[in-house]
Amino acid sequence: MEKFLIEGGYRLDGVVKSSGAKNAALPIIAASIMGEDRTILHNIPVLKDVDTMLKILTFLGAKVNFSNNTLEIDPSGIKKFTAPYEYVSTMRGSICLLGPLLAKYGKARFSMPGGCVIGPRPIDLHLKGLKKLGVEITNEEGYIVGKVRKLKGSKIFLGGNFGSSVLATANVMCAATLAEGETIIEFAACEPEIVDLARFLKKMGAKIYGEGSHIVRVIGVKKLKGVEYTIIPDRIDTGTYILAVLITKGKIKVENCIPFHLMALMDKLEEAGIYIRHGEDYIEVEGADKWKAVDIVTLPYPGFPTDLQAQMMVFLTLADGISVITEKVFPERFIHVGELNRLGANITLDGSKAIVKGVKNLFGARVMASDLRASAALVLGGLAAEGETHISRIYHLDRGYEKFEEKLSKVGARIKRVKE
Ligand code: EPZ
Repeated sequence: MEKFLIEGGYRLDGVVKSSGAKNAALPIIAASIMGEDRTILHNIPVLKDVDTMLKILTFLGAKVNFSNNTLEIDPSGIKKFTAPYEYVSTMRGSICLLGPLLAKYGKARFSMPGGCVIGPRPIDLHLKGLKKLGVEITNEEGYIVGKVRKLKGSKIFLGGNFGSSVLATANVMCAATLAEGETIIEFAACEPEIVDLARFLKKMGAKIYGEGSHIVRVIGVKKLKGVEYTIIPDRIDTGTYILAVLITKGKIKVENCIPFHLMALMDKLEEAGIYIRHGEDYIEVEGADKWKAVDIVTLPYPGFPTDLQAQMMVFLTLADGISVITEKVFPERFIHVGELNRLGANITLDGSKAIVKGVKNLFGARVMASDLRASAALVLGGLAAEGETHISRIYHLDRGYEKFEEKLSKVGARIKRVKE
């Protein structure tokens, strides 16, 4: 097992390039199996989650070839339709294969996704949407089994208790592309990753309208073709680097990003007194010695992203004043709080709210990573903390950040990956 050793208190400064978006790559790789022939994808990040998705595709019979962030997928050899427990249990995102398998092959067998540290993650909306398209769903020995002779278009309200669902929208939109007739998805997710998926599907020959809004209309087609496509940059990756440098009072330019996808973050940073400049494909921020406390409410896009909540929290632990963070997407997503308090933060929880009282300094300590974004927050805490921080279980980070410590070292971080 590996851990990070971080010597904190150094001001970071420099340029970082954002990687391709994990949460666009996964549903797009899944959707590529609906093509009649080979697909080539560019800007695919080298991540453990991508690797797991490719392991599942290979298990199903597809041929994949991945090098230099370019991925070739040939689905013609797919003969199996079961996504095994050992893969699905390590990556919930694999559920986005359900819609494409049912659409192309009329059958799919999926291990029920288990528990998750960020809180309950039911898939009722996924199943509701697919049933509306005519899929027969049963539950056998912990597996979801879906069967359908011919998908039929339908009107589907996909809103849940916490608003829209990203991957439920992805699954239903994919299935609807090969269904008979028209499908209207109401309360669809508007995330940039959903727009990127829709653009990919349209390039394959799908008829989709309204992506990026809460009403998506899909006119079914007979078949889709393999294509060449470049996925969007990762807005969460970009936001993480910006907060990593700001917490050290440094200066950074993130290139190869889409500032428009990060309006909510930039708005809150300006409210905290941070100076930001951006162009078409870059964001430049100048750190300050002091910043103000601000309140955050996480919401589905274009609201403040839940995947930046932990990183923003650690930034606010050193703010002037008291910030209140309300987690409205995953109300229990606060597993990082205990570990941040070990670094000297002053955070208390009240249901789905975290009250963050700003402190003067953080201090190095031994902490443990628990999930992808919480781990990134601990690295940010270690970069700001005086002294040395040890972060164990960093395999969580490798699931979603490409070359994390290399990129941070490039802007001056003292971070090392060592054996436990
Ligand atoms: C996607 O997960 C992302 N994962 C998550 O990123 C991200 O946190 C989340 O969207 C929200 O932005 C990928 O894209 C692979 P949801 P997803 O369905 O689609 C409830 C990361 O760190 N819900 O939009 O699984 C659900 O419990 C990961 O990169 C239902 O009630 O999230 C949650 O409270 C973590 N029933 C809310 O909706 C359902 O059937 C939003 O979840 C589905 C979801």
